[in-house]
Amino acid sequence: MDIITSVKDMQQRSSAARAAGQRLSFVPTMGSLHQGHLSLLEEGRKRGDLLVLSIFVNPTQFGQGEDFADYPRALQRDSELAASVGVDIIFAPTAADMYPKGYATYVDVDGITENLCGASRPGHFRGVTTVVSKLFNIVQPDLAFFGNKDFQQLAVIRRMTSDLNVPVEIVGLPIFREADGLAMSSRNVYLTEEQRQEALVLSQSIAEAKRLAAAGESDCETIISKVTELISSQAETRIDYVQICHQLSLEEQKQVDNDSVILLAVFIGKTRLIDNSFF
Ligand code: PAF
Repeated sequence: MDIITSVKDMQQRSSAARAAGQRLSFVPTMGSLHQGHLSLLEEGRKRGDLLVLSIFVNPTQFGQGEDFADYPRALQRDSELAASVGVDIIFAPTAADMYPKGYATYVDVDGITENLCGASRPGHFRGVTTVVSKLFNIVQPDLAFFGNKDFQQLAVIRRMTSDLNVPVEIVGLPIFREADGLAMSSRNVYLTEEQRQEALVLSQSIAEAKRLAAAGESDCETIISKVTELISSQAETRIDYVQICHQLSLEEQKQVDNDSVILLAVFIGKTRLIDNSFF
């Protein structure tokens, strides 16, 4: 497995692989890998000849007061995990190479970036779509793999690649959960033991929403109010949003239907966690 840190070297390596007829699988991450990332890499390994993992804590997607400085960085451990699932190349660029002096170009997706995480994290998706566009231009993948946990991110990236005619197939894979239901996230390491326990309310309240819908409740307001009540019963929780949306447009719905997805963002202490599910 090679570790490439230069944008130019990565681009040359990808161009050579493509010229040799190799199919490139790509998993973009910010590192601190967990089983969810590994499931993306395993799928990428199966579907491509060359498997590239990027590790880059992207400054442009963090807002003021967010956890850019504290975001866990663990390149040594990540390299071992990457090697264990057959990654061929880790691309770990520096911020100075990705955003050199004078950098001035950003990618903005309208509409679906405006509610949910887009409303509470202004500029976040602009940073994501900018860095993902750059990574696509550098790595030139045939396939790119993303987790469903960042549901809105995946929808935004699909919109961007379709709108900009980027020749890459976007593959979304299911949320990977701990045995007790907590969705895997690099940010889970911030949680104390008590907070880790409280965080279970996210998946439990989603399960309750699904139970209500299965029992015939279709009014979104009623379901959201039950979910809100459950989450608020935990001492350290603060709800950012609980919404039921159409899975493609991400517009809020009044009635649950086959296209509905429930999405949550909840602070547990200072840690902001997200989760979601179809009904
Ligand atoms: O989901 C992430 O880890 C990041 O948002 C991504 C897609 C790697 C862009 O920095």
